[in-house]
Amino acid sequence: MKELSIHIPVSVKDETELRPEDIKLLDEARRATSRSYAPYSHFSVGASVELEDGTILSGSNQENAAYPSGLCAERTAVFYANSRYPDLAVRRLCIAARDTEGNFTARPISPCGACRQVLLETEQRAGHPIEVLLYGTQGTYCLRSIKDLLPLSFDDSFLSDKD
Ligand code: THU
Repeated sequence: MKELSIHIPVSVKDETELRPEDIKLLDEARRATSRSYAPYSHFSVGASVELEDGTILSGSNQENAAYPSGLCAERTAVFYANSRYPDLAVRRLCIAARDTEGNFTARPISPCGACRQVLLETEQRAGHPIEVLLYGTQGTYCLRSIKDLLPLSFDDSFLSDKD
């Protein structure tokens, strides 16, 4: 038997350890939580993206009475970025969330599986790793790439894999 071992480095930083450009992106993700539409879960998520020209955009979760029709903050932000600036690659992404009491979560929140799959394709489209910042009041997780969020992932290379 062979065993594969996957190592995913995650740096945990407090705000004093973040770069000014990280704080800018983080502030935008935190601000975006206040534009969330979450009357059902009362869980407000904000996602910000930085494009290759430095433009920062954001999105928030948008819920619906027909629950599955709603969309997470990450996909809202990335789809918005890609539809508004299809030729500008996404460089970095940040996510923040406020709990049902309105407080930013102590633990960083991490994108759901469906968002990870969409983010993975966004990274492939960019042609370079997208850095990820997952904000929590007790520390921000910093990952080098979306791939680190989705090891053993499925992508379009399998569609033409003849092996
Ligand atoms: N949500 C996000 O927007 N992003 C995540 O990473 C996890 C969950 C939203 C979906 C739903 O509106 C609410 O948070 C509760 O699940």
